[in-house]
Amino acid sequence: MNLRIPGPTPVPPEVAQAGAADMINHRGPEFAAMMNRTTAGVKHVYQTQHDVMTLSASGTGAMEAAVVNLVEPDEHVLVISIGEFGDRFINLVKTYGGRCTELKFEQGLAADMNKVEATLKAHPDIKTVLVTHNETSTGVTQPILPALAQYVHSIDGLLIVDAISSLSSVPVKTDEWDLDVVLSGSQKGWMTAPGLAFVSMSDRAWAKADRNKTPRFYFDLRRHQQSAATGQTPWTPAVSVWFQLDRALQIMLAEGIENIFARHRRLGRMTRDGVRAMGLTLLASEGVESDTVTAIRLPEGMDGGKLLNVAMENFHTVFAGGQGSLRGKIIRFGHLGYVNDKDIVAGLDALRGSLAKLGYKG
Ligand SMILES: Cc1ncc(COP(=O)(O)O)c(C=O)c1O
Repeated sequence: MNLRIPGPTPVPPEVAQAGAADMINHRGPEFAAMMNRTTAGVKHVYQTQHDVMTLSASGTGAMEAAVVNLVEPDEHVLVISIGEFGDRFINLVKTYGGRCTELKFEQGLAADMNKVEATLKAHPDIKTVLVTHNETSTGVTQPILPALAQYVHSIDGLLIVDAISSLSSVPVKTDEWDLDVVLSGSQKGWMTAPGLAFVSMSDRAWAKADRNKTPRFYFDLRRHQQSAATGQTPWTPAVSVWFQLDRALQIMLAEGIENIFARHRRLGRMTRDGVRAMGLTLLASEGVESDTVTAIRLPEGMDGGKLLNVAMENFHTVFAGGQGSLRGKIIRFGHLGYVNDKDIVAGLDALRGSLAKLGYKG
């Protein structure tokens, strides 16, 4: 099966095998050594000297960790949303009693920095900003992170970034861009099964987490930091997924992060060129297309659900459908993690063949 969804992504055979190993004592030296190794590897990929904690959770767990540690009860925050995952931040903040100013942009667009600045000027009480780097529901990567971080810090604020479907595939320069909190998840570019999520924390973020009164337990990042100092996690970790991450990081570091980024740039372009050559258009506007996922508009009147079934049954290829209001109108083609040229060619062939079976003449 050619799994062309934007996560969970395929894992290399050695990584799958690593996950089948027998259990070890998660409070023993073997786990501590592995944790130290993976934390160093993850920090390298994050391009940061900040603390990065590994949580046993999916990406949404990392988002919840960011909110419960960094948004104070009744705090007024800004969420910049360009799609479904930006909206998830809004829901999370509201769930914990925060007040949200929601700055939303049309599907397919990136956020406009002028509008962000105007919104923050209109609400001088806002000191926390949450944003999605790579919006998996629309196939858009936001180019604004360095400028946004600079502006947010000029008003003495804190920036929380969901980089779940970008970090490890495309550059996210945590320290150079001065990002306070950055989230990612094992099942995306990390070539690992779902089950681990990452959270980096700047000194500013730790200071706020310390004074924040929001109740938290499983995701209390101070507990994670304390345990990490002894090579442990506060609660039982997802050991098998951790074995996989350890192996996947060896493969990633051997390839080198710059080579990984170049491969994603090349495969992203190849996917977009192939899709456009079929006469189809992309949801993402020009210049902000994601190199990890391509959202493709379907020909007028074509049922997206049917296309997904035809691709699976006839071409052993799994694409993702649209989410929310985009359901049935787009399909999403994932090209992140353990992926090479032949996977993209096979994915494009499957798409072309499925469209033809549904009567599309191009
Ligand atoms: C940008 C983004 N944010 C958040 C999430 C949520 O992560 P998870 O499904 O692992 O909880 C995803 C996963 O699809 C994502 O792509």
